[in-house]
Amino acid sequence: MAELPLTTPRTVLVTGATGGVGSAVARALRTAGWTVYAAHRRPEDAEALRDAGFTPVRLELTDEDSVFAAAEQVGPRLDGLVNSAAIMGQGPVELTPAEAWRRQFEINVIGQATVIRAFLPALRASGGRVVNVGAVSARVPPPFFGPIAASKAALAALTHSLRAELRHQGVKVTLVEPGAMDTPIFATADKASADLGWAGSATTQEHYARALDAVRATAARQPLGPVTPAVDAVVRALTARRPATLATTGRDGRALALLRFLPDGLRDRLVLKAFGVTAEAFEDAPLTESPAARRR
Ligand SMILES: NC(=O)c1ccc[n+]([C@@H]2O[C@H](COP(=O)([O-])OP(=O)(O)OC[C@H]3O[C@@H](n4cnc5c(N)ncnc54)[C@H](OP(=O)(O)O)[C@@H]3O)[C@@H](O)[C@H]2O)c1
Repeated sequence: MAELPLTTPRTVLVTGATGGVGSAVARALRTAGWTVYAAHRRPEDAEALRDAGFTPVRLELTDEDSVFAAAEQVGPRLDGLVNSAAIMGQGPVELTPAEAWRRQFEINVIGQATVIRAFLPALRASGGRVVNVGAVSARVPPPFFGPIAASKAALAALTHSLRAELRHQGVKVTLVEPGAMDTPIFATADKASADLGWAGSATTQEHYARALDAVRATAARQPLGPVTPAVDAVVRALTARRPATLATTGRDGRALALLRFLPDGLRDRLVLKAFGVTAEAFEDAPLTESPAARRR
């Protein structure tokens, strides 16, 4: 774990502190002597967070009042802000309902921007740091992961703008882009997909069935990495004298990031092959339904 020795107690707010990455970041920082404000959205999580040695702070990303109330609770100075909370939406672009797109951007982009707006005065007062947790899918968006990849690409763009805006204001900004990690995010995503359902008619959904089966089978075989590399990158971003602007973590994360240097056509072929999605998956009758029949 990369840490600089701390001479004075430091304060940090971690969003998504009940999640896989956020909870591990909170624990690592607590162990290193930081005062950790653990942001959580469900009231019933407060007690366990307090028992773990954190200061629980209610924060619902989609509720601006809740975010600004959290900033009031934390007070006028803050040394670090770790934006780890997010949801993951997956599925073909054509089958993703408008509601799922809205939720994805409401939480993963607008929510992060709201948190940054709310906490920046306190970070500026301390010469603090912002660490945004993105995803490597922002750089190489895989097929059938459009919603999460698009939201993380937007977060990456927002982070780069923010870094330049804060350059002369004493607040450093890092984007950590991990590969796939073993956390509850996949189960949460499956449940959200099941709750919201797919867009499109039964015929359109059937059109994608074989491709989706192949993607699911590939995902089930894929080993998920530990959160440790991402946690270490967050801690480094908060403690290194000169923090990196971008940290890509995990073996698969670094390998995927390299794919962006390939020509698009070649990259598409390689990625589809890795997912087991062949042309045969779409060898059914061409879809001729009207837009009204396909809309939902
Ligand atoms: N796991 C991966 O494979 C992976 C890969 C690349 C990047 N990442 C990124 O890593 C970060 C952490 O992900 P994770 O794997 O730790 O996910 P996770 O275990 O599902 O945790 C997500 C956290 O976000 C919180 N959250 C969700 N919606 C919220 C809302 N509306 N308001 C406030 N908090 C909300 C969750 O709270 P509840 O517990 O109350 O739901 C939870 O604490 C995310 O930014 C994710 O995109 C993850």
